[in-house]
Amino acid sequence: MKALVVYDSVFGNTEKIARAIGSALGSPEDVGVMQVGKAGLEQLKGLSVLVVGSPTRAFNPTKPTTAFLKSLPSHTLDGVVVAGFDTRTNIDEAPGFLKFMVKFFGYAAEPIAKRLTKAGGKEAAAPAGFVVADTEGPLKDGELERAAVWAKQILETSGVD
Ligand SMILES: Cc1cc2nc3c(=O)[nH]c(=O)nc-3n(C[C@H](O)[C@H](O)[C@H](O)COP(=O)(O)O)c2cc1C
Repeated sequence: MKALVVYDSVFGNTEKIARAIGSALGSPEDVGVMQVGKAGLEQLKGLSVLVVGSPTRAFNPTKPTTAFLKSLPSHTLDGVVVAGFDTRTNIDEAPGFLKFMVKFFGYAAEPIAKRLTKAGGKEAAAPAGFVVADTEGPLKDGELERAAVWAKQILETSGVD
């Protein structure tokens, strides 16, 4: 089984989640963890699992993440198990108007997952969001562990091993 976790990260929190997901998916010989700027079609060859994650920025993935996803031609991910995740602000601490906006416009994980399935991927886990305490982090307690559980779920649902 060959898997790849592609991530973007401005302050390092999404990278930490991506690495936790990579470790849970398998050993470094089988599982790559790669910054989105380095990922292209070449890196997707022979993959069984592709996970993509981004910080939520203005309710969406980062520009490099969206550019990568948009660059995937139709059928690129046929037969590949996919899942999308994001990191996001702690909504409990956000002011009221922002809570409303976030509820209305959502987070990065959903559009990521949509684009992955549009390129042919088979979604194996619901889009997941991992919470940062402040804009720059740190991650909320327990989020790395939750990311590992989510990654294991991808393997279990898809039957890939
Ligand atoms: C310009 C900017 C826009 C942001 N927009 C959102 C947002 O729309 N929703 C949200 O939940 N968090 C938002 N955040 C918080 C980021 O999601 C948070 O900084 C990110 O998860 C940290 O991940 P990183 O360390 O990998 O960059 C925003 C942060 C910045 C700096």
